[in-house]
Amino acid sequence: MSKDKNEWGSNLSFIFAMIGSAVGLGNIWRYPYVLYSNGGGAFYIPYIVAIFLMAIPFLILEYGVGYNFKSSFAKAVRKISPKWEFIGWFLPVSVFIIMIYYSAILGWDGIYVILSLFKGWGADPNAYFTTSLLQASDSYMGLTNFIPLIAVSMIVGWVIIWFISHRDLEKGLGRVSKILVPLLFIIMLIIVGFSLTLPGAYIGLSELFHPDWSLLYNFDIWMAAFGQIIFSLSLGMSIAFTYASYTRDDADLITNTISIAFANSLFENFSALGVFSILGYMSLQTSVPVADLVTQGTGLVFIAYPTVFNVLGNWAYILGPLFFFTVYLAGLTSILSTIEPLSFSIQNKFALSRKKTMSILIIVGAIISMIYATSFGSTILGYVDMFINQIAILFGVILECIVFAWIFKAEKLIDFLNSKSKTIKLGKWWLLIVKYILPTFVSIIWVGGMIDVLEGASVQQLIFTVIVCALLLGVTLLFTILPAKNLDWDDIKERT
Ligand code: PHE
Repeated sequence: MSKDKNEWGSNLSFIFAMIGSAVGLGNIWRYPYVLYSNGGGAFYIPYIVAIFLMAIPFLILEYGVGYNFKSSFAKAVRKISPKWEFIGWFLPVSVFIIMIYYSAILGWDGIYVILSLFKGWGADPNAYFTTSLLQASDSYMGLTNFIPLIAVSMIVGWVIIWFISHRDLEKGLGRVSKILVPLLFIIMLIIVGFSLTLPGAYIGLSELFHPDWSLLYNFDIWMAAFGQIIFSLSLGMSIAFTYASYTRDDADLITNTISIAFANSLFENFSALGVFSILGYMSLQTSVPVADLVTQGTGLVFIAYPTVFNVLGNWAYILGPLFFFTVYLAGLTSILSTIEPLSFSIQNKFALSRKKTMSILIIVGAIISMIYATSFGSTILGYVDMFINQIAILFGVILECIVFAWIFKAEKLIDFLNSKSKTIKLGKWWLLIVKYILPTFVSIIWVGGMIDVLEGASVQQLIFTVIVCALLLGVTLLFTILPAKNLDWDDIKERT
């Protein structure tokens, strides 16, 4: 395997690819709802604390260690301590599971890009989405009902992913990110600009920002802010690590971190302005209070938006396709990042080329993803999403903190990172955060998430969660114990 195939052509490619990974469905459909339901304007306090206390310090740590080893996540973790190699595979495999279900959402959205050209969802978008398109069923018997339209759209997505990812890093992901990420911001700006001029926009916005300060004493909104930031910035998922390991020797990682966190927040706050202006407009037209229109997730993108487009007249033929295309771009640039950690780790351990590894992973991913093209698909998607985001990834983040900050020793990075930094300089405060505050906070969120899942889950959900958990652990174990094919698997150079 030649190393130069896994290197960014410039710092710009690295920054754009990282922003592309961060800015995704979490910014468009999750954030506006989280902001609204957690105190509106008051939410900004925990949100900003979460960015400064967790996101930036932790990203610096992940980048620093990734940059130091210039190798895949699994290989570096093994180097830090062979006993922990399991963790080195656990996170990349978890992120690959995210990839598989993200492909389903991308597939649904692809269908909506076309439907929006002629408002093909009809007069009742809710019935169209759940009954006609997903044919959603919450019984596992739904697995036998295959939906070819969704399958075809998902396969189109997988082909696009393959086309970009199997090429050398800079020629594929690097170039594509430099084009698509700015495009994503421009289209979003147009959509938000238009939404703000809609009659009634102010109703939605005043509802959104009307702060409920009393909620600041409520532990839940702090948990929501930390959870949102972890998901939205793809923190601790071994993606930032892998991207930093692809950088050249002259990167100013601290300044890059700040730019990426800033761009991500800018985008999600923009998107909140757009969503709530549109909901305000809708509220004015239909006399339904904004509070009753707010939903999250698939409900917002595939039901609330089409409903608004139905009352928007001819503007909908421009705004609709633009909106669904933006969601597609945001999803695409995120999904491209979810394959990198596992792919690079496999390339390192089993001496396979980037092209071959990507092709195999994409075929395997595409085949497994067909579960989501059945009537039971959207139900499983909910289960898997909850397990991976509230349990598996958070667990990985805690372990990553221990391996990087304690066993590797974060202090080793300070002089080197400071020498490149043109902005903030790290000091004792950074060590205090990454060694003590962060693992403590994330552990608390993890326990909270676990209680949430256990309290709210049905027996069927618990059974499926156990199956997904067993598969995740089984595949992780397999990668850990399979003997390495690469002679230099244990031979690793450090840059600092
Ligand atoms: N950060 C992405 C978003 O906001 C989600 C994501 C999670 C992307 C995990 C990659 C990996 O939607």
